[in-house]
Amino acid sequence: MLKFLIDADTGIDDSVAIYYALKHPNVRVVGITTSFGNTTAPQGAENSLRLIKMANPGYEVPVVVGENKPLFGDWHGPEYHIHGSNGIGGVEIPETDQKPLDMKAEDFIIQMAKEHGRELTIITLGRMTNLALALKKEPELPNMVKNVIFMGGTYKERGNVLPMSEANIFGDPEAADIVLQAGFDITMVGLDVTHKTQVTPEVLQKLLKYATPENKAFAEYIVKATNDVYFPFNHAQNNCLDRSPVHDPSALVYATHPQLFTTRKIPCRVECKGEYTRGMIVADLREYPMDAKYLNICVDVDNVRCLERIIATFTEKAFAIG
Ligand code: BDR
Ligand code: CA
Repeated sequence: MLKFLIDADTGIDDSVAIYYALKHPNVRVVGITTSFGNTTAPQGAENSLRLIKMANPGYEVPVVVGENKPLFGDWHGPEYHIHGSNGIGGVEIPETDQKPLDMKAEDFIIQMAKEHGRELTIITLGRMTNLALALKKEPELPNMVKNVIFMGGTYKERGNVLPMSEANIFGDPEAADIVLQAGFDITMVGLDVTHKTQVTPEVLQKLLKYATPENKAFAEYIVKATNDVYFPFNHAQNNCLDRSPVHDPSALVYATHPQLFTTRKIPCRVECKGEYTRGMIVADLREYPMDAKYLNICVDVDNVRCLERIIATFTEKAFAIG
C-alpha cells in the first residue's frame, strides 16, 4: 500500500489528482493540507472535504488548512480567470459535515511523518510553503519520510508565469528552495511532462459517457468545471488549441506508475530574485556544478499511457484518447 500526504491548492486539476488518489486501490491518503494559489487555503480545504465525500474512499481523510501567503511578502489573491470563483470552476459540489482539523499544516505534516515514517510520500501540488515551514520546525523530516514528489517547475519547457518559471514555484520560490536543499529524495513533475500530456473536451465527454455509476458525479463535475473558464483559458494560453495540460494528476501518476516517466538527476537551485527569472529551476549541467542538492527531474513521459491511467480510474471501458 502506498501512503500519500497531499498538499494542494485545491483547484480543478488538483481535484482530479486528489480524486485519483482517493480512488486508487493501492493508495491510502493519510491527509490533505492546503495552500494558496488556485484559490485560498480555507476554500481549498472546503473543496478537498467535499471531494472526499464525493469519492467516498471508505476511510477517514483528515484535512488541514495551511498557509495563505508565501514565506515573504503578500499574495495578490486567487487566479479566478483560470479556476473560477471557488477554485473549482464555480461548480457547487455537495457539502459535507466533515470539518478541517484545528491545527497548523506544518504540525500535521510532522505528525504524519512520525506516524508513517519511511512509508510516507509527501506530494505537493501547489506552493511548497507548508512543507518549508514543517522543515523549519523539524529539519530531520527528509530522513523521516520516504520521498517528496512535487508538481511544479520546468527544466527545458517554456514557463507559464515567466519565460522559465512555473506558477507553483514562482508563487513561493524561497519555500521551494528550502525544500529542494533540505536533503529529501525529491522528484519534480514539471511542465516538461505536464505540457506533453494533454486533455481535450472530447476526452472528458467520453469520460462522462463511460464513467462507472460511482464516478458519474465526479465526471459531471469535471465536465462542468472545465467548460466555462479552464478550457477557454488554456485555449487562449496554448495558441488556441482546444486542449489543456494535465498538471497535478501527472504527479499522482508518477507516484503510482514511475515507470511511465524518464528522469534525470541534476543539482538544482531555485532562483529567488530576477525580474525575468524569479521562480526558475536552475539546473547545473556543468562538469563542476554549484554546491546544490540533486533533484530528480521528469524529463519525458509516455503521455498516452499517463492519460489512460487517469481515465481508467473513472471508467470500466477503455476508449481511444487520440
Ligand atoms: C500548477 O498551477 C496551478 O494552476 C495548477 O493547479 C498546477 O498545480 C501548474 O502550473
Ligand atoms: Ca495545483
